[in-house]
Amino acid sequence: MKKRLLVVAALMAVGVMAVPASAEGEKIGIAMPTQSLERWNRDGSYLKEQFEAAGYEAELVYSDNEVDQQVNDIQNLISDGVNMLVISAIDGEALNTVMDEAAEAGIPVIAYDRLIMHDAVSYYVSFDNYTVGTLQGQFVVDTLDLDNAGDATYNIEFTAGDPADNNAGYFFNGAFDVLKPYIDAGTLVVVSGQTDFDTVATAQWDTQTALERMQNILASYYADGTQLDVALCSNDSTALGVTQAIESDYAGSNSVLITGQDGDEANLANIVDGKQTMTVYKAVANEAVVTLDLAEAILNGDTVDESLIEASAWDFDCAYDTESYETSEGNKCPSFLLVPTVVTANNLQEALVDPGYYTMDDDGYLHPTA
Ligand code: BGC
Repeated sequence: MKKRLLVVAALMAVGVMAVPASAEGEKIGIAMPTQSLERWNRDGSYLKEQFEAAGYEAELVYSDNEVDQQVNDIQNLISDGVNMLVISAIDGEALNTVMDEAAEAGIPVIAYDRLIMHDAVSYYVSFDNYTVGTLQGQFVVDTLDLDNAGDATYNIEFTAGDPADNNAGYFFNGAFDVLKPYIDAGTLVVVSGQTDFDTVATAQWDTQTALERMQNILASYYADGTQLDVALCSNDSTALGVTQAIESDYAGSNSVLITGQDGDEANLANIVDGKQTMTVYKAVANEAVVTLDLAEAILNGDTVDESLIEASAWDFDCAYDTESYETSEGNKCPSFLLVPTVVTANNLQEALVDPGYYTMDDDGYLHPTA
């Protein structure tokens, strides 16, 4: 990705490559949910950089996790005359009015990372969200060698994401589907009994909310020294809170297997320190590359299907999927889905540093490059 940007910049500098005629004067409105959750800062800057390097004007807004503000921000992008909207919704069900307005103005919409439940969405770009969950679940199965557990039992608690985010259910279901057979067999025991998505969900993916819920669980079910073996957390912002709760309030002395997602800086530090066990990394730089190429194809009036992938110079995997996601009942949303990877203390260098996503200090801690 970096190489591509450098080549574009170098060619433009020597005047070999003019701004593509189709990009001239075209404006892209980019609406991200919040800067308080780390990844969206990376998404926002990669997207803006990518579109600007390709010659587009790009307007980037963050809406502080406030639904009304996001509606307002998107309305402003529409009045500013954007030719395309790239939106990651705070609440996928709450953008109906503004999506109607985008449709009336003839502005194509790409749902970025999180699906919007409205048929004005032309395409969806994301990672395979169900797979994110299955990777977390399978990591637990493999690490505890549950298939050969014999009579051994392990205690587990679940922490899921924001119910307003369409992704959250996919992550949870992916993990739960892998782990359910072991729960049914009694190898995994959910001591709190909390296995229902709405019960384990975390509004706004908030770290403090996840922390407080885990403190309550520890006080209610583990205060007598009952051992907690696994804290299955859907992402890093929730894993951070759960890890803090375990550090401060857990009576046991074993180290708890904690999952996450994103590769947030504090969580990678926890992985280096042995406090979090894994995270599922999603290369958002590549998600931005797909979004740019898709937006260009839409604006040029090109056919958009798997030929976009075949014609691309992408050096990463991406699937064209017309079945998995619907914007309304029966209305499938054509999707470009990238592939997530498992990151542990053992592959930080190859998975994150070598591809250029993070730098590593001498002490082993990582810092995102964007
Ligand atoms: C994203 C995750 C992220 C979560 C909270 C989800 O929609 O797919 O990567 O952890 O939002 O920001």
